[in-house]
Amino acid sequence: MALALADRLHGVESSPTLALAAKAKALVKAGKPVLDFTVGEPDFPTPDHIKRAAIAAIENNHTKYTPAAGIPELRNAIANDLHRRLGDPIKYASAEVMVSCGAKQALYNALQVLCNPDDEVIILAPYWVSYKPLVKLAGAKPVILNTREQDGYQPDANLVKAAISPKTRAIILNSPSNPTGAVLSNRTLKELAAVVQGARHDDSLFIISDEIYDQIVFAPAKPCSIVQVEPALVNQIILVNGVSKSYSMTGWRIGYVAGPKNVIDAMSALQSHSTSNPTSISQHAALEAITGDQGEVQRMANEFERRRDALVGGLNRISGLSCLNPQGAFYAWCNVSRLGQSAETIASRWLDEINLAVVPGEGFGSSSHVRFSFATSLQVIDEALDRLKQWTRP
Ligand SMILES: Cc1ncc(COP(=O)(O)O)c(C=O)c1O
Repeated sequence: MALALADRLHGVESSPTLALAAKAKALVKAGKPVLDFTVGEPDFPTPDHIKRAAIAAIENNHTKYTPAAGIPELRNAIANDLHRRLGDPIKYASAEVMVSCGAKQALYNALQVLCNPDDEVIILAPYWVSYKPLVKLAGAKPVILNTREQDGYQPDANLVKAAISPKTRAIILNSPSNPTGAVLSNRTLKELAAVVQGARHDDSLFIISDEIYDQIVFAPAKPCSIVQVEPALVNQIILVNGVSKSYSMTGWRIGYVAGPKNVIDAMSALQSHSTSNPTSISQHAALEAITGDQGEVQRMANEFERRRDALVGGLNRISGLSCLNPQGAFYAWCNVSRLGQSAETIASRWLDEINLAVVPGEGFGSSSHVRFSFATSLQVIDEALDRLKQWTRP
């Protein structure tokens, strides 16, 4: 007899990106020459000075429970780092910062503490695959708003304004974006901030700003947070970030959130009863990541830029494919609609016919795109472009 699961799990399925990455990995293990473009994490090792800090943390017995919101040194370092990177007048107190088990848990906690049943959360499509399930798990309703390729995936603030209802509790922004690589412009952020400011007389509408890729941005684009553009909105912004992508630390599971103290306190209370605290050792490693030498962060971003140029340039020379130049993150969002089949069909054909694994766009809200992660070597990129050229040849 099938076990009846709780209603809140309805419509919440496991991540399609992880499923495809797992299938690609299984094929590699079985000896197939698969070129894997599904991965959502940097392929570089975590920098040595960070690993050494974790080893020292173990040797110094930092191996016990920590405060639920994270160790004070790390909360303080995050507040200082946000000030260093976002500039005046952004000055979070450490009590306005919470450390979480990855940025994902920060997003989960934020939605749990903000949303009541039937509240609405606006998500811009294409979206990261976890936003919809995270909103549903909070009992709220995802309201999807499309952005357009021809606008470089900059949302139309008037459409956002029209989508806001009395039930809207939050709007999720993600810049640089997974999957499109779009960086929201200063102008877009200003317009969105004005919409939120004008929407209500109180401050019950929040922007959840997922900035996990903010240190992987390619010139001339510049990373820009909505809190910099409209500091007056600080009490309605939940800024989510972490060390996973910038420092190649996905497995260490350290994210963080900065926002109004009452929201941070509620998120910390929730965390105290769920995971207790992020791993003590990882917190010490993250402290070194944020306060130590930042050279590797730029080096990795530069390498991603070289790969972006090779991959996107190559894809745009292949007939039937087109791809906007991503300004950040490490994903190429490739339009396959001219091939005349759905993204899911194309991705599955590429895996079967040329051993090339990409993520079909359906999970991100588009059946005309596939996502290539360029967290892989230039050699693999060249080989993939060769296989695609052969595959598309009439
Ligand atoms: C847009 C976006 N937000 C959040 C996350 C989660 O980050 P973390 O691994 O720190 O939980 C990811 C990871 O893929 C992501 O792509």
